[in-house]
Amino acid sequence: MLSLKEIGSKYPTNKNDYGFLDIYENYFKNLRNKNLNILEIGVDKGDSLRLWREYFINSRICGLDIDKKDFVIQNVEIYQGDQNDKILLNKIAKKYGKFDIIIDDGSHVSKHIINSFNYLFDHLRQDGIYIVEDLQTSYIPRYGGSRINLIKKNSSMNFFKSLSDSINYENFDRPFFKKHRFDGLIKSIHFYQNIVFVFKGQSAKYFHQNVKINFLDRLKKMLSFFFR
Ligand SMILES: C[S@@+](CC[C@H](N)C(=O)[O-])C[C@H]1O[C@@H](n2cnc3c(N)ncnc32)[C@H](O)[C@@H]1O
Repeated sequence: MLSLKEIGSKYPTNKNDYGFLDIYENYFKNLRNKNLNILEIGVDKGDSLRLWREYFINSRICGLDIDKKDFVIQNVEIYQGDQNDKILLNKIAKKYGKFDIIIDDGSHVSKHIINSFNYLFDHLRQDGIYIVEDLQTSYIPRYGGSRINLIKKNSSMNFFKSLSDSINYENFDRPFFKKHRFDGLIKSIHFYQNIVFVFKGQSAKYFHQNVKINFLDRLKKMLSFFFR
């Protein structure tokens, strides 16, 4: 059986050049024969879809691209549309049920990356993987990033860095803490050069999560927060 990299050598996707296939293989090798639903945003000439088609022999695969594609890939559905189009993303997701793997290799614009993640996260199944490629664009202003401000609001890298706090939300020691949408829903986030893997799932229950704090203790906690 050919490895992902070996299959990749047949298809000139830039996933080869950026070294992503070795990383992907680590996560995908145990999923290879399963019946998965896979969505990739960004089709270009269709090479990565052909790659996934050949690698995931039992999966349903679809792609989305803003440009119309005049080629057909057997057993792959290609949608035309914008990755910011919530209605379209919902429509695709409805047809597939939940996705097991979502890969964003689309516009690489920070705002679009964040929009798609926000829209599609609910359509990712528990234990599913959400991957975003080419995050070097987070350091390029024309993609909505910044070369100098590494904590720029709404840059893609800053979004995923902040998201990592959702893994530890139970430890936040803030008196008026309001749960964020992704808190407790993300098991882990793995960063590599220019690519991130977000694993959906519950983080391990923190040991004191169920301990009820009475009013007096809560008050003490608040005061100690302000006077420490
Ligand atoms: C890097 S290419 C995809 C490469 C492909 N995944 C591969 O590995 O062979 C990026 C693609 O994203 C598409 N794209 C750009 N903006 C988009 C958007 N807003 N929504 C959906 N697709 C978009 C482009 O038309 C282009 O085909």
